Amino acid sequence: MTLPLTRPHPGAADPNRPGSAEGPDRGRPDTPSAGPTAHRPPRRAIGFALFALGCLVVGVAAPMPYLTTSLARLAQANNALAEWWTTQPHWVYQALLVHASASGLALVLTPFQLSARVRRRLPRLHQITGRVLVAAIVTGAVPGLAVATHSYAGRMGAAGFGTLAVLWPVTAVQSVRLARRGDLAGHRRWALRLAALTFAAVTLRVGVYLGIGLQAPKTDAAVRAAFDRVYHWMPFGAWVPNLAAMEWWLRRRQPGRGRD
Ligand code: HEM
Repeated sequence: MTLPLTRPHPGAADPNRPGSAEGPDRGRPDTPSAGPTAHRPPRRAIGFALFALGCLVVGVAAPMPYLTTSLARLAQANNALAEWWTTQPHWVYQALLVHASASGLALVLTPFQLSARVRRRLPRLHQITGRVLVAAIVTGAVPGLAVATHSYAGRMGAAGFGTLAVLWPVTAVQSVRLARRGDLAGHRRWALRLAALTFAAVTLRVGVYLGIGLQAPKTDAAVRAAFDRVYHWMPFGAWVPNLAAMEWWLRRRQPGRGRD
């Protein structure tokens, strides 16, 4: 993926400009154009740091048990999903291992790919990790789609995770297509939509823990029942709010430019 450094649309913020209004680290005090925002608390920097932390923690911690422990052992540890996969055809678990490894890599790479600092100082690295990211997304999405047809959440899982497994690589390809065409502003919008979809892995896990916590279950059986109630909604709940929030944010920043 070669990113030609072309002019942005007239009137649009230049995403390559240091301290650009579009960059995740916009208004950093050390950027020359930070101007009046230089002394403002870096709210967006904190938001980006939390986003990056979520991606790194979940990207490493979620796949780890599957890569280091046998399925039988995970199932014995009262892991509802692992128990479920012991009842499914063996290929589903193998597909899950490929899915979790590749998707974990995609999640870990996402903050680096979004960092304006990396883009500005190491543009070649941005292009290389961009290629690896797209390869990881495609490698994660294809088995993800297959696993969705055997989801613990049943038809809801097949519909919700299945839709995500299609949208995920399509969004990545659209982002790359626009970069190749030289439309950097469009590339950035689709890259941000892609990040919102990738972040589904974090929203899913935070949503499940919050959902169980709010039900305050007292016994193991109650925890399992609480998990089942929350998980039923997560195949859509993990990504629709992320995408809706990102779409709202994109339109608020550049009215009329969010649609492409
Ligand atoms: C964004 C597109 C994604 C799709 C469509 C997707 C799809 C799925 C599906 C269908 C399952 C099986 C869940 C079930 O049986 O209900 C699953 C599980 C899993 N996925 Fe993904 N996933 C995506 C992103 C990710 C990412 C970015 C990671 C990286 C951490 C990841 C890691 C895992 C892991 C570790 C599991 C095993 C279940 C668990 O321990 O939570 N997935 N995924």
